[in-house]
Amino acid sequence: MRTVNVAILGATGVVGQELAQLLGERQFPLGNLKLLASPRSAGKKITVSGQEYVIEAVSAESFQDIDIAFFSAGGDVSKQWAPIAVAAGAVVIDNTSAFRMDPAVPLVVPEVNKEAALTHRGIIANPNCSTIIMVVALKPIYDAVGIRRIIVSTYQAVSGAGYQAMEELDAQVSAYTAQEEQTATLLPVASCEKHYPILFNAIPQIDIFDEGDYTKEEWKMINETQKIFGDTTLRITATTVRLPIMRSHCESINVETKHKMTADHCRQLLTEASGIEVVDDVQSQEYPMPIYTSGQDPVWVGRIREDRSIDCGLNLWVVGDQIRKGAALNAIQIAEYLVPNLR
Ligand SMILES: NC(=O)c1ccc[n+]([C@@H]2O[C@H](COP(=O)([O-])OP(=O)(O)OC[C@H]3O[C@@H](n4cnc5c(N)ncnc54)[C@H](OP(=O)(O)O)[C@@H]3O)[C@@H](O)[C@H]2O)c1
Repeated sequence: MRTVNVAILGATGVVGQELAQLLGERQFPLGNLKLLASPRSAGKKITVSGQEYVIEAVSAESFQDIDIAFFSAGGDVSKQWAPIAVAAGAVVIDNTSAFRMDPAVPLVVPEVNKEAALTHRGIIANPNCSTIIMVVALKPIYDAVGIRRIIVSTYQAVSGAGYQAMEELDAQVSAYTAQEEQTATLLPVASCEKHYPILFNAIPQIDIFDEGDYTKEEWKMINETQKIFGDTTLRITATTVRLPIMRSHCESINVETKHKMTADHCRQLLTEASGIEVVDDVQSQEYPMPIYTSGQDPVWVGRIREDRSIDCGLNLWVVGDQIRKGAALNAIQIAEYLVPNLR
């Protein structure tokens, strides 16, 4: 198999570091690796698979001879550099929201719609982390009995807001231990006027508010899910909440199916599905929890029950490491699928 020259833009960030680590772990056919960030981090050193790399500031020359460029440096950075990377001949797999709803850009979760990746014109979008975790869990149900409506509430980790949010939670834990005053400067959204402590808290705002008083994160879950399933009739409502979890998002999902599915059938179907681990034994108090799913590849499903308030309804508790399957792993799975088709 040919080797693949890779660039990671955002290599010092939460997603970028996971991308670099996974390339080594998964024995990706890696040729050259270029690690890119802003001028702030230029010159820093990062070790990947025992080899030391120096971070470079992204520039117009960064994408020469690059086959695949993973972008995870924020939407504005993607909008600026993706056209330049594509013009240089790279395929961009973008972790930001910059191109996700562009009709010309495929939005791909390999367990659901991997073939869409082959329709790319230079850019492939990786969906929002909460969306990826949800659609992996729902795809087998969607295929078996159809889905009419989804009601999802999320319980999201601070690492979903980047490395500075993790540092803020750490600092709040230290301040609490030292009986000092809590400071909050970042969450829920750095650019918003008000900031709240995340330690001992639940913040019902992820991203800024948008149409109908939904947050952008909530709209991403709605619009992206419809695009990935290719089904605009799918009715979805979402409430997204940040909790003091370091890593792994959790989701309480209620689905109204088109035809009846029993909890036992659902459990069996999800047990056989690719990318899913079912942990669902209430007699033994077994269910997925973020401290156990962090650093793991699968989407974990438990608490599978029939919703007795409607004729065809199911409740699921879904947990997934949003840095892995919700971002870096999904992007690398797309790249692995593309490799045999690269020029
Ligand atoms: N964290 C998650 O769970 C997650 C999941 C899915 C998708 N995403 C998306 O992935 C993207 C990155 O998220 P993250 O959590 O990894 O963020 P992060 O930890 O804050 O890292 C941001 C990265 O972007 C780089 N960067 C910032 N401004 C730049 C610029 N002007 N030019 C070049 N590089 C720049 C930073 O480099 P410096 O070191 O130079 O500042 C750093 O490497 C975001 O769009 C986010 O929405 C995140």
